[in-house]
Amino acid sequence: MRNRIRLLLLFLSALLCLSACRSRKPEGKKKVRIGVSVYDGYDTFISELTTAFREAAAAEARSVQIELSDAGRSQEVQDKAVRQMLDNGCDIICVNLVDRTAPGKIIDMAKKKNVPIIFFNRELVEEDLERWDKLYYVGADAKESGVLQGELAAAYLKAHPEADRNQDGVIQYVVLEGEAGHQDAILRTEYAASTLKERGIALEKLGYALANWNRSQAQTQVQQLLQSYGTRIELILANNDDMALGALDAYRASNIPLPPIFGIDGTEPGLSAVRDQSLTGTVKNNGIGQAEAMLSLALSLAAGEKSAYTLDRGKYIRIPYEAVSADKDSSITARSTELSR
Ligand code: BGC
Repeated sequence: MRNRIRLLLLFLSALLCLSACRSRKPEGKKKVRIGVSVYDGYDTFISELTTAFREAAAAEARSVQIELSDAGRSQEVQDKAVRQMLDNGCDIICVNLVDRTAPGKIIDMAKKKNVPIIFFNRELVEEDLERWDKLYYVGADAKESGVLQGELAAAYLKAHPEADRNQDGVIQYVVLEGEAGHQDAILRTEYAASTLKERGIALEKLGYALANWNRSQAQTQVQQLLQSYGTRIELILANNDDMALGALDAYRASNIPLPPIFGIDGTEPGLSAVRDQSLTGTVKNNGIGQAEAMLSLALSLAAGEKSAYTLDRGKYIRIPYEAVSADKDSSITARSTELSR
């Protein structure tokens, strides 16, 4: 009798263990918890991207719970927030690094808990991404945005010889740079100018200003540039739309006529300024596409399924940029879908 009871208990505990193990496996219908940490919630492009992420998650058939946190430009705050997300049991964490050279703590913590990390928009160096096989990156090809901005500007300048205000055959220009050390700021600045030169536009750089992707910082910086150079500025290349709009604000507060100004992002306010032709052009940084790719990758990782997106080197998803201009004379014409919204 005793033996029979022992056998029954053994059988029951084996059954219990089996069902417990099974419930730990990712199932299609299980709620997926995704932590999202952004470097600065007030950044226009990032806030449009996270809104798109939330909307895509709400439209998902699977139940998705999002835990969003704003690091307020502090890496320390971001490290703590990610630790909290791991403690809260998030299945995947999406990180928009504050300092793209300092992902170490986040990688170590995630590895310990075996939780995959999708970094986005602020690209870490390849060696860091190689540190573990559950690290991914979703973003875009920064060089491509610089090239497209250069092509847009070259097309405009060729169609509008009057843009060379002093008719010296050289375009005097200034650059509004994003953050020091950000991959997009470095490559956009470099490739916009080199593409213009390749397209036969002679350039003279009058100056540049770091405005941290920010509209009001750009306005202040351009006010100062206007005091030094005034009407001599014939072209403004801004690393993003917010800074291009800041330049516009500075010109509007002065009596100096607007030169062509180009941004990058195609944010709502950026596109609206291109539509009314106060900005000459922009390059669409497809935040919605990046948000959708990030969600899709997160869900497939949580379910242990193959990603619907092709991952470059098993780790990278890059969504293409697109040039947007409303200038009818340039060879690059308006993308009606973008501008008619
Ligand atoms: C965007 C900027 C944004 C920055 C934040 C860039 O890709 O173009 O608008 O401020 O990312 O990291």
